[in-house]
Amino acid sequence: MKPNPIIVALDVESAAEARALVARLGGSVDFYKVGMELYAAAGMDFVRELLGQGKDVFLDLKFYDIPETVKRAVAQVARTGVRFLTVHAVGSVMRAAVEGRAASDLKLLAVTVLTSFGRADLDELGYNCEVSELVERRARQAMEAGVDGIVASPLEAAALRRIVGPKAILVTPGVRSASAARGDQKRVATPAEAIRNGADYLVMGRQITRAADPAAEMERVLKEIAGAAR
Ligand code: C5P
Repeated sequence: MKPNPIIVALDVESAAEARALVARLGGSVDFYKVGMELYAAAGMDFVRELLGQGKDVFLDLKFYDIPETVKRAVAQVARTGVRFLTVHAVGSVMRAAVEGRAASDLKLLAVTVLTSFGRADLDELGYNCEVSELVERRARQAMEAGVDGIVASPLEAAALRRIVGPKAILVTPGVRSASAARGDQKRVATPAEAIRNGADYLVMGRQITRAADPAAEMERVLKEIAGAAR
């Protein structure tokens, strides 16, 4: 297992707030996720600031557009040194993303089916299948397209690991320690369970960022994982 498999989600509304959080977490975190909210507020300037501090960045923008646009946008991201980028797991989108990142070190992660989607949403889209079937089909297509990994619920991780093989990167949000508040997350697993199910990286937001002492909470979670691995 990696020394620290946790990616902290910077789900805050300004660069100032994100900066303060990163300063409080200090050396205890070296990988951050920037999603749509912070990106809309602070853009690539803040991403570059994080990279400049030697942090790894997971840019969670879930690209979904015509191939030429995806290819060119991914090429821009690849140039910055961002480490992970999400794209929707639709064949033409993923193939364009793979072309766009070319020989760079950027790793592409596919979002199979949004976890907010249920069977009724798929019916609305005209898909006549269960969510789990579409997740598995898209995971297979992601590997065929040359994408590096998948974002998945920790509860799906074990089944997906069998599909994507040992080399693919599995990243799981929806992780909570048994003692922590779940917030709006419904299908959660503990950090140790997620790792046991085959996750390589865990995305954690509020449990860390809203803790009274975020750095101490981070250390506590790492101990929890290490304790369970023994
Ligand atoms: O605060 P919390 O730990 O729930 O944050 C989880 C992060 O992972 C958020 O940035 C959320 O958008 C993201 N995410 C998720 N579930 C998914 C995909 C992404 O919670 N299926």
